Amino acid sequence: MDPAEDQNLDYQQGTVSTVDLHDAIRREDPLQPGGRGAVGAVVIVISSIIVFLGGGQLFTASNGFRDSIYIHPHYVPDPRPSLGGGDEGAAQIAWIDQWMNEGKKVYNNCIACHQASGLGIPGQFPPLVGSEWVDGGSKRMGAILIHGINGPFKVGGQTYNQLMPAWNNLNDEKIAQVATYVRRTFGSLPEGEDGVVTTEMIKSAREEFKDHSAPYTEAELLAIPQDAQLSGAKVSLETGAPL
Ligand code: HEC
Repeated sequence: MDPAEDQNLDYQQGTVSTVDLHDAIRREDPLQPGGRGAVGAVVIVISSIIVFLGGGQLFTASNGFRDSIYIHPHYVPDPRPSLGGGDEGAAQIAWIDQWMNEGKKVYNNCIACHQASGLGIPGQFPPLVGSEWVDGGSKRMGAILIHGINGPFKVGGQTYNQLMPAWNNLNDEKIAQVATYVRRTFGSLPEGEDGVVTTEMIKSAREEFKDHSAPYTEAELLAIPQDAQLSGAKVSLETGAPL
């Protein structure tokens, strides 16, 4: 027998009629012509309502998909809460934050030796963290920054013997900013001490130390009491105005 006919054995032998064969399929399909079992009018109406309302909602609420939907044209950020007095709506950033940011920039001058971490390089450059020269009052810091130090010089029991350059070529403001940054970032200051050094304080330090020109020796710096402060008014951390 021809092998192609062999595959259609039932058909050829007439044991299953084609009509019978399709009956099963006709039975499984509920969507007969004539409406019985077709999608009902109610479903169509309800879906139309949903699509219509959804579309309307999308149209009105999306604002044309522009990002301005997130920012109201008349949006004005709330002012910082006032600490009372002073002019309302003044600087949004507290004075001390700006002062510290500037100080951090000036500190770039110091990084090569004292490192960004303030930990210095063992045996070569002393740490500012845990240093008795940073932890005390502001006067020693002022003297050091204005005239520098000539080693040998002890920090935390360790002797360094190099030259700490003078920074008197920086203006008073920059010296004040870096002194503030170093004291507040690396120092452990006494209770109630905010570590702030102002331009006015550095100005007075220049005046006070003007008879000195060479870098300080350790003995000279030790002669300044550890807790001595530069003279000048304390300022508000919020506004920088003298208290
Ligand atoms: C060229 C390297 C060098 C640079 C730059 C430098 N220092 Fe120093 N600094 C030293 C050395 C070295 C000493 C230790 C004294 C010595 O050996 O002369 C020292 C000591 C100090 C001290 C006292 C000791 C201590 O560790 O607390 C302070 C405070 C200080 N430096 C702050 C600064 C600041 C702030 C700057 C940046 C404005 C700066 N130094 C830049 C090398 C440097």
